[in-house]
Amino acid sequence: MELRHYLQFRDFSLEEYEYLFARAVWIKNKFKRYEPYQPLVDRTLAMVFEKHSTRTRVSFEAGMNQLGGSVITLMTRDTQMGRGEPLEDVARVISRMVDVIMIRTFEQSIIERFSSNSRVPVINGLTNEYHPCQIMADIFTYIEHRKSIRGKTVAWIGDSNNVCITWLQAAPIFGFKVHVSTPPGYELQPAQIAGIDTAYFESFANPHDAARDADLVTTDVWTSMGFEAENEERKRDFENWQVDGDMMRLAKPDALFMHCLPAHRGEEVAAEVIDGPQSVVWDEAENRLHVQKALIEFLLLGRTIV
Ligand code: CP
Ligand code: NVA
Repeated sequence: MELRHYLQFRDFSLEEYEYLFARAVWIKNKFKRYEPYQPLVDRTLAMVFEKHSTRTRVSFEAGMNQLGGSVITLMTRDTQMGRGEPLEDVARVISRMVDVIMIRTFEQSIIERFSSNSRVPVINGLTNEYHPCQIMADIFTYIEHRKSIRGKTVAWIGDSNNVCITWLQAAPIFGFKVHVSTPPGYELQPAQIAGIDTAYFESFANPHDAARDADLVTTDVWTSMGFEAENEERKRDFENWQVDGDMMRLAKPDALFMHCLPAHRGEEVAAEVIDGPQSVVWDEAENRLHVQKALIEFLLLGRTIV
C-alpha cells in the first residue's frame, strides 16, 4: 500500500474526505451501539508531544484502543529528543517499531523532516501553522448539524493562527467561504495564504462585518501555544475580537458557534455564546475521536468495505 501522511488539510481530496466522513459515521454509530470494531489488534500508535494537549491526546489514545491497537505517548523532554538526538534518527527508529505516528510540535518543517524519514504514516496533531485533524472534526460536525457546508460562510474572529489557516485550506476543497477578521498587526500574511484562491476568503477590519450573515461563527484563543510571552499585549490588542451575543445576532439565525478548545470565557468568547444554544463545541470535541479513528483506519488499511 502507498505510504500516506496527513500533514496538512490539503493532503486529501474532497472525495477522500467524503469517504472518511462516511467511515466516521459508521465507526461512530457502531461505537455508540457498544459493538466492538477492532481491525488494528497488534498495531501501535506512537504520539510525540512537544506542546500541551488534552483533546488530541485523549481522542487519539481512546480511538486507537477502541480500534484494538495500543498507544505509546512520548513527551519529547523525557526522551533522547530532549537531549538533542536528531529528529531524523528518531523518525527512522520509531517508525521501525510502530505502525502510525502522531506529532504535535512547533514549525511545520519539523513534521515534514520527521515524515520524510518515517516508514509509517505520520499525522499532524497541531503545528504552529496547521491543525488539520481539528478542522476535519469541525466540518464533520457542521455537516452532522446542517447537512452540507458547500456554499456556506464561516466567520473567523481573532488570530490568524494554525486553526484559521487550516479553515482557509479547507474552503476551496469543500466549496465554502471564510470571512476573516483579525486585529491590526495580526492580519493574514502572504505566506499563510499562498496558493489559496482569493474567491474563498475575504478579510474584514471590523469583526461585526465578518460575522454578518455567517452560517458558522468560530474563534480560538488569543494566544496560541508558543506565543505566551505576548499574552498581555494580545489581551489588549484582541479586546474587541470577542464573540459575544451581539456578534452572534448579526450571523444567520440558525448559525452555529464552534471553538476548538480550550476556551477562555470573557476573552475570545463570552460565556453566553459558548454555553448558549448555538454552540456545538462539545459535539465538535467528541467528533475528534470518530474522525481520527476513520483517519487511522484509512492510513493503515486503506479503503475498507463494510
Ligand atoms: N483542540 C485541541 O487540539 O485541544 P488540545 O490542545 O487539548 O489537544
Ligand atoms: N491555536 C491554538 C490551538 C490549540 C488547540 C494553539 O496553537 O495553541
